[in-house]
Amino acid sequence: MTETALPEVLIDKFDRRIDYIRLSVTDRCDFRCVYCMTEDMTFLPRAQILSLEELYRVGKAFTELGVRKIRLTGGEPMVRTDVMSLIEKLGKLPGLEELLLTTNGAQLDKYAAPLRNAGVNRINISIDSLDAERFKRISRVGKLEKVLQGIDAAIAQGFERIRLNSVIMRGYNEDEVLGLTDYALERGIDIAFIEEMPLGEASDHDRVDTTCSNAWVREEIEKKYQLVNSTSKTAGPSRYAQVVDSKSRIGFISPVTHNFCADCNRVRITVEGRLLLCLGNEHSIDLRAILRDANQTDDDLKRAIVASMDIKPERHYFYDKDHAQPVRLMNMTGG
Ligand code: GTP
Ligand code: 5AD
Ligand code: SF4
Repeated sequence: MTETALPEVLIDKFDRRIDYIRLSVTDRCDFRCVYCMTEDMTFLPRAQILSLEELYRVGKAFTELGVRKIRLTGGEPMVRTDVMSLIEKLGKLPGLEELLLTTNGAQLDKYAAPLRNAGVNRINISIDSLDAERFKRISRVGKLEKVLQGIDAAIAQGFERIRLNSVIMRGYNEDEVLGLTDYALERGIDIAFIEEMPLGEASDHDRVDTTCSNAWVREEIEKKYQLVNSTSKTAGPSRYAQVVDSKSRIGFISPVTHNFCADCNRVRITVEGRLLLCLGNEHSIDLRAILRDANQTDDDLKRAIVASMDIKPERHYFYDKDHAQPVRLMNMTGG
């Protein structure tokens, strides 16, 4: 029987080219951010999560299907034992243009140099407060000092770009928009403001009370800085504005107030090997079963990935009563 040839690029039913994957390497984290996790989390047993070798096979299969950007997510990627060995191998994949990392920054003082050497191009570092006590309140356990050291270590390594990620929530940190912006500008790095998404139930607050629109965040910033909309884009959903007379850009990721799904170019792989076709929907296929079936080859894996493009949903519908809302927490989704 002749198999149909594998395509060189992934295109979904809505004619979107999928060239960016978000590969979750762990559901665990050394923080417990209030918008991402509950306080008492149970994590997946080892047998259920993909091995580093399996994660590599997934990354390789996608790059052979024309994926040019891999972003490692979690949980917190850097808590996975021996994750550097995976990153080093991914960094050598032919066809990969960008290897990216989203991290809480707590271990970057140790890992910034090896990450740069492994070929990581850009790093996004989450930080929601510059006040140590408040930082601890939001992350429940994190130490601000460690993250600040991590940011400095990353800057010292000269990554192509470093972006801070801040989720602004009313009642937690909405008075820090300008402080966080100042901090990024002083260091010549970018910062993105992210609207809190209704992914699973937050245990410490009702998201309806806390969600801040990016229109409001932008107004706060414009009280002090002049912003000019920029056409520059990264792989992700952020819309950027250049700060006049500064090297820094401000990103706005507005999944709640502005749907950006028409430009979607990405899919996610959870650490259980579920290929999740959209952050806000449940459509997925099980890659782990294929990876662990001795009768299936890497070409079978690729064929399954190609076929999955047909079930990628058109868009997410956050806070829409007519559509089911995601029950997965962010650490299970992979950022
Ligand atoms: P860049 O490559 O720097 O543009 O990164 P990115 O914004 O794609 O990645 P990052 O991991 O920093 O994600 C920032 C925020 O954007 C996180 O809260 C993500 O969950 C969110 N995000 C990324 N992709 C999507 C998406 O497809 N849909 C939605 N709703 N949110 C997304
Ligand atoms: N809504 C918006 N952003 C979230 N993040 C985690 N959970 C949520 C949520 N519910 C952000 C983190 C990190 C990125 C990977 O996702 O702050 O920057
Ligand atoms: Fe950990 Fe990131 Fe979730 Fe915070 S947002 S608990 S740092 S995975």
